[in-house]
Amino acid sequence: MNEAGAEATMLPFEEIGGAPAVRALVERFYDLMDGDDRFAALRAIHAPDLTPMRQSLVGFLTAWLGGPRDWFEINAGTCIMSAHRQLGFGAVETAQWLQAMGQALAESGIPADLASRMNDAFERMGHAMQAG
Ligand code: HEM
Repeated sequence: MNEAGAEATMLPFEEIGGAPAVRALVERFYDLMDGDDRFAALRAIHAPDLTPMRQSLVGFLTAWLGGPRDWFEINAGTCIMSAHRQLGFGAVETAQWLQAMGQALAESGIPADLASRMNDAFERMGHAMQAG
């Protein structure tokens, strides 16, 4: 198979660099949320201990990017979109989530094309998750 063919069949999970890359992205995202005042409104709607969220977002993104699907087995029946809509957050929190994730993606050495596709998908999901 030539190089272009190999790229076409590559899963986003492989393209991003597998489990260590997903973990690094999520850690950077929550570190930014936790420590940067620009994300204070977003931080305020999360529980004090972010450890379970870090774990869960790693699992969700792993499956979402085409990697192992453990998260969907552990959370069988959970719709991430409905779960978020019930949280009742608005445009400010959504914008902060997208900004923090955009920065984490930009800083994580993820291929630019993949980062851009992920940003686009998160933007669509984020706005659909918003209550108002
Ligand atoms: C766009 C604005 C978003 C906001 C304001 C937001 C907010 C939150 C909050 C407050 C929690 C904690 C819920 C709790 O305490 O149980 C949470 C958890 C979580 N979020 Fe988001 N979120 C956003 C977008 C997203 C997106 C786009 C994804 C997926 C790509 C995502 C994936 C998750 C996951 C996997 C968890 C952990 C759920 C669990 O295991 O209980 N979030 N989010």
